[in-house]
Amino acid sequence: MYLTKEEARILEGEQGFARQKAMEILVALGDIYGALDLIDIESAQVSGVSYKTIGNAGFEFLDEFSRDAKVKVPTTLNPAGMDLEEWESMNVSPEFASKQLEILKCFDRMGIQLSCTCTPYLIGNIPSYKSHVSWGESSAIVFANSILGARTNREGGMSSLASALIGKTPNYGLHLEETRGADFLIEVKEDLKTHMYGVLGYHVGKITMQPAFIFSERPALEDLKSLSASLGASGSIALFHAKDVTPEWKEEFDKLEKIEVTNKELKEEQNNFRNTDKIDLITFGCPHCTINEIIKIENCLEKNEPLCEVWIFTNYHTKKLAERIGLNDSLKKKNAKIIADTCMVVSPIEEMGIKSIATNSTKACIYAPTMCNVDVYLGDEKECISLGMK
Ligand code: F3S
Repeated sequence: MYLTKEEARILEGEQGFARQKAMEILVALGDIYGALDLIDIESAQVSGVSYKTIGNAGFEFLDEFSRDAKVKVPTTLNPAGMDLEEWESMNVSPEFASKQLEILKCFDRMGIQLSCTCTPYLIGNIPSYKSHVSWGESSAIVFANSILGARTNREGGMSSLASALIGKTPNYGLHLEETRGADFLIEVKEDLKTHMYGVLGYHVGKITMQPAFIFSERPALEDLKSLSASLGASGSIALFHAKDVTPEWKEEFDKLEKIEVTNKELKEEQNNFRNTDKIDLITFGCPHCTINEIIKIENCLEKNEPLCEVWIFTNYHTKKLAERIGLNDSLKKKNAKIIADTCMVVSPIEEMGIKSIATNSTKACIYAPTMCNVDVYLGDEKECISLGMK
């Protein structure tokens, strides 16, 4: 891969140990994937934040790295393993909390915003059309590529951090115009509920790499967020197109081999994620909830009070807004609470005696059984809440 003189000097260690290691990571990736050079990025989203997922080894690496360099572009952070301010309300152990806070200090030293959300595009990290970025977090990657028309490959924690420290990424894959096409036309003729967009993403992710959708009705932001999450979790999808919705739709997609998807098929698919009807915890917010989703959940709870707790995951800003408009107080009366900075997958819920969750998130249903050792029930908000009343 071609390097400028300055890039070569960074590789030789002129800007210190951390940037040298970061450049080694980017050059290795570029060589593996045949990149010709490095390109400037507009922002980074760094994954690998929860102590549950990175452990002591990850912490020690970050501790060393963070003493030597700061990021060169605006950089946001994926969810941590707990609410950074109200972790005790989640029954997180003090040992876990102390490690998690040390990890956050490392990111803070590097100049990374302690945003701790998988929806950075809802809190100001909104890449411009056709800009290059380096994002970790599969759901946000799909959203950035597809809905915003930005360009990112599926980065991991290490590569997104390396890019943030250098301000560049290897120029290959979805950074190249010619790779941003579609392979199948997916026609969805019936209207879908928001959580069924998640099921659709899982279903389609098994049969295509880069789908082009035609929807009968324009999806809402929350529908697209749900679809992005499950497409990213089902296979290795990082980009989709949707007619009259996404900015890179091309007329030629109309001529692709067409696959029709029906509600009946999706309901059958949904049954793959219903392996329990005894629920310890109802969880929403994968990816993190918008304020409208929280209002909808509160409405569903209005006449119902589940026997188990309801945890609603969101970003810090949305939690504060919910507090300001009185949502927190009304939710608390219904055994529900808003939790910021983390989620049902990367927090240590398995250490809290939770054996089963009900959720509206297909992505959570894909990951939680292995990452949290829990059974799952997938349904819309009303179904999840009524299951928690039995
Ligand atoms: Fe976000 Fe956690 Fe789901 S990081 S997309 S809420 S698994």
